[in-house]
Amino acid sequence: MGTILIRNGLVTDATESRKADVLVKDGLIAKVAPEIGLSEAGEGCKVIDATGLVVMPGLIDAHTHYHLVSRGTVTCDSFPQGSRLAAFGGVTTVIDFADHNKGMNLVDSLKYRLDEMAPGMAIDYTLHQGVYGHGYDSTIGKQLEQLKDLGVKTLKIFTTYRNTGYLIENRDDLLDLFKNAKRLGMLVTAHCEFNPMIEKISDNWKGDFSPASHAKMRPAEAEGKAIEYFGSIALEADCPLYVVHVSSECGLNAVRSLREKGLTVYAETTPHYLFLDKSCLEGPDASLYVMTPPLREKSDNQALQQAVIDKEFQVVATDHCAFTREQKLSSSDCRTIYPGIPGTEEMLLLLNTLKDSKADLSMSDVVNLISTNPAKLFGIYPQKGSLEVGTDADIAIFDPSEEWTLADDNVHSASLYTPYRNFTVHGRIRTTILRGAVILENGQYFGKPGNGRFVAQH
Ligand code: URP
Ligand code: ZN
Ligand code: ZN
Repeated sequence: MGTILIRNGLVTDATESRKADVLVKDGLIAKVAPEIGLSEAGEGCKVIDATGLVVMPGLIDAHTHYHLVSRGTVTCDSFPQGSRLAAFGGVTTVIDFADHNKGMNLVDSLKYRLDEMAPGMAIDYTLHQGVYGHGYDSTIGKQLEQLKDLGVKTLKIFTTYRNTGYLIENRDDLLDLFKNAKRLGMLVTAHCEFNPMIEKISDNWKGDFSPASHAKMRPAEAEGKAIEYFGSIALEADCPLYVVHVSSECGLNAVRSLREKGLTVYAETTPHYLFLDKSCLEGPDASLYVMTPPLREKSDNQALQQAVIDKEFQVVATDHCAFTREQKLSSSDCRTIYPGIPGTEEMLLLLNTLKDSKADLSMSDVVNLISTNPAKLFGIYPQKGSLEVGTDADIAIFDPSEEWTLADDNVHSASLYTPYRNFTVHGRIRTTILRGAVILENGQYFGKPGNGRFVAQH
C-alpha cells in the first residue's frame, strides 16, 4: 500500500478546521501537521493537492439497507453497488442491518448477514442486529452476550410491522431487552411508529390507498406516541435509547420530553425528513417517495433543520433503502409500494448546502453528524470517524464550493433516480480513501468487492 501526502487542505474534524497536510502510510494516518515535506513522505509517494478542498474523516452512513431481502423482493443496491455509490458520497463505512431471521437465533442471523456481505462490500461496515418478536425468548440475554463477543453491540427494534413478525408486543419482553442492554452496555435503536394507533387508523380507514394516504395512515402522532412508549420502558430500565429516523416535530417533542425526564436519548434524522415534504406524494412519481415513516409537512422540515443546528440530533443517516423506478412504480397502492428511498450519496451534499444557508452550522458540525458521532455511539471510534494519528486512513476530500444540480443520471444508485432531483447542491467529493487506498478519484471508482472489512464494535 502506497504512501499518500495530502497537501494544503482545510483539514476538518469534529472540533475544528485548519490548514494542514496529512500523511498516510501503511493504511493509517501517519501525521497531520501544518507542513509535511516530500522528503518525509518518501520516494514514490502520491501527492494530492487539496488547495481549496476540505479534508475530513471518511463519512459513516449509520443506517443503510443494501441488499435487503424483504416483501418478496430485494433492494436494488447490492453490496458492490452500495459501496460504489457510497464512495461517490465520501462514505467509507456503513452501518447496515442484520435481520433476526425466522428460525435462527441472533448469532446465526448475524453470521448469515456477515457471510452475505463479505464478498460484496468494497467499503468497511458494521451492523445493527435486529431483535424481532417472532424470535424473542428467554435466552435473549445469553444471545446478546454472544453478539457482543462477535463485535456487535447495537440492536434494532420496531414498534410496528406486526404482520412481518418484527414487533415485540409484550412490554415485559421489551423491558427485559432494555435491562439486558443496560447490563451489557449495548445500545437499543428503535423504529418508532406506534402500532396500535396505526392499526386502529387502518381498521377504520374510509379513504383511498394512494401514496398521499400513506402519510395520513401513519401520522406524526404515531411517531410521538411510540417514542414516548419506548422511552417509558428505557426509563424503567435506566438504559439509553437511540431513536432512528425521526421524521416529525411531534417525534422531536417526544424526544425532548424524555430528555427532560432525565433519559439519555440519542436522535437520528435523515436527509429526506429534512428536505422533502408530503407534497412529493402527489403526481405520477408519487410512489418513488414512499418510505416509512412517511414524509411530513414543510413545517416539520423546518423544525428538524433547526434541531440539527441546535445539536438536538446526534446523527444524520440516510435509511438508504433503494428500489428501482420499476419496483417502486409497480404499485400505486400505499400498502404494497416497496417502502424506502436512496440517499447515501447525497447525504454530505445536502448537509453542506444546508450549512451554507445557516450561519450556525459549521463544517465541523457536519463532520460530527455524519462521521464522528456515529463512530462514537456505535463503538468504532477513533478507528473510524477521526483523523487521529494511528487510526484507519479513511478520508474524504471534498470541494465544498462546486454548485451543481442533482438529476437521475448524475448519481450512482441502481435505482436510477434521486429523490433530490432538481436540487441545486454545493460540493462534490474529489477523492475517497479507504484505509490508505484511493477508491474514488475525480469521478473514477477503484473500489474492489471483497476489500471492505467488518469493523467490530467495542
Ligand atoms: O421505508 C423504509 N424506511 N424502509 C426501510 C426499513 C425501515 O423501516 O427503516
Ligand atoms: Zn425504520
Ligand atoms: Zn431503515
